[in-house]
Amino acid sequence: MSQMLTIALTKGRILKETLPLLASAGIEPAEDISQSRKLIFATNQENVRLLVLRGSDVPTYVQFGSADMGIAGKDTLMESGSDGLYEPVDLGIARCQLMTAAVKGVETPPGRIKVATKYVNVAKRYYAAQGRQADIIKLYGAMELAPIMDLADEIVDIVDTGNTLRANGLEPREHIADISSRLIVNKASMKMKHDRIQQVIDAVQKAVNLV
Ligand code: PRP
Ligand code: MG
Repeated sequence: MSQMLTIALTKGRILKETLPLLASAGIEPAEDISQSRKLIFATNQENVRLLVLRGSDVPTYVQFGSADMGIAGKDTLMESGSDGLYEPVDLGIARCQLMTAAVKGVETPPGRIKVATKYVNVAKRYYAAQGRQADIIKLYGAMELAPIMDLADEIVDIVDTGNTLRANGLEPREHIADISSRLIVNKASMKMKHDRIQQVIDAVQKAVNLV
């Protein structure tokens, strides 16, 4: 029997854009993922299975080798660190920007500031690199509320259309990074299952080049 390949995907919006890329590598879920409460899915290939996870958990499964491969946002990879994994393909999907933002027209105070974000590690690194002192306040969502309610001076978050910032009276300030989804691979899996994984990488890269 050939080796099992386990691929960790992000549930929700990105899944729709992800499945065609996998299909181009000949991998298709055996049932409609969006119609199921399952977390693990068989595919048309007997030796390939899919995990459907919260995006921020995908790097963790791949880093520990519980999944051989995964698809994760560059934002979650920046936050989790890339120990133990390769990042061979930029899929070019779910593009957005990681930015700082603050209340429109309100200058950020000098000296030590408060920053609300779910990207605690990214924010710490960013402000430290700029030599600015920042107390980082961890939130799990709706970061845009924090400056309005005086919980923080700035936020670090994803900006796509900018609608959420505008709708809440905030404005983008500094660009931290361009974000998109990446194919990631566990380093040990890459050695142990090299041919099988390289085949998937090549097929996905080819599909991305055609877009
Ligand atoms: C994301 C992100 C921003 C918004 C960006 O939030 O955290 O708030 O989308 O998109 P936009 O620039 O097009 O408005 P999400 O809706 O995922 O909710 P959450 O932050 O509460 O998890
Ligand atoms: Mg949000």
